[in-house]
Amino acid sequence: MKIAAIIPAAGIGMRMESSTPKQFVKVAGRSVLVRTLQKFISCQLIHTIHVVLRKDEIESFKKEIEDSKIQKTIQFVEGGETRQESVYRGFKAVEPDTNVVVIHDGVRPFVEVEMIKAIVQTAAKKGSAITVLSCFDTVKEIHQDLVVKTLPREKIVMVQTPQAFKYEILKESFERAEIEGFQGTDESSLVERLGFPVTALLGSERNIKITKPTDLPLAELYAQDIKFLRDITKVFF
Ligand code: C5P
Repeated sequence: MKIAAIIPAAGIGMRMESSTPKQFVKVAGRSVLVRTLQKFISCQLIHTIHVVLRKDEIESFKKEIEDSKIQKTIQFVEGGETRQESVYRGFKAVEPDTNVVVIHDGVRPFVEVEMIKAIVQTAAKKGSAITVLSCFDTVKEIHQDLVVKTLPREKIVMVQTPQAFKYEILKESFERAEIEGFQGTDESSLVERLGFPVTALLGSERNIKITKPTDLPLAELYAQDIKFLRDITKVFF
């Protein structure tokens, strides 16, 4: 089975309120993106890794990779205006004889290698798989500052990456989204709208998306990999 990974990391990170995009911010001495990549490099199932970056960041990141002594071959792809466009560009660089494609945000460095394996194996069997967390807060739909309604939180999950898909399913989903002008905030939404079943696997509380300045102290703590923190962030459904 041939497996490719796409790591989108071409965002500008406006919510981080910093001149350094969040994927290049250093956490305990290593950049967020290098930390994320190291998880995919350690995963024996993955054959090729495609990192999507903004054009002017490719050369400096290649240098960072050399300094980190990363051995596995990484291919670099120029990103687009939206996350969807960036991932689609990464997808176009994937070899067509690939069986499963796994996509993971460059800014989620605390993904477990076991989770990557589980999501790939589930997609290989069932076609499509995503990682989710239960929602413990009450969730409401609003319009401007007025509540429209309360949503049934027992039916709601919060979605993470990694997400994995059989190559042919993802290809058709991207092509149809492009033709029909559909923009989603994850790849699963492109696949769901064509009626393909998507299996939800339990994700991890530790697999945070580093997005805002307040995520950084937590990231520093997780980077220390203290066993007791690992235990208390196990997830409950
Ligand atoms: O914007 P969002 O939080 O969904 O970003 C998730 C991931 O997608 C980040 O790793 C970000 O760098 C990447 N991204 C991208 N190209 C864009 C926008 C976001 O690769 N145009």
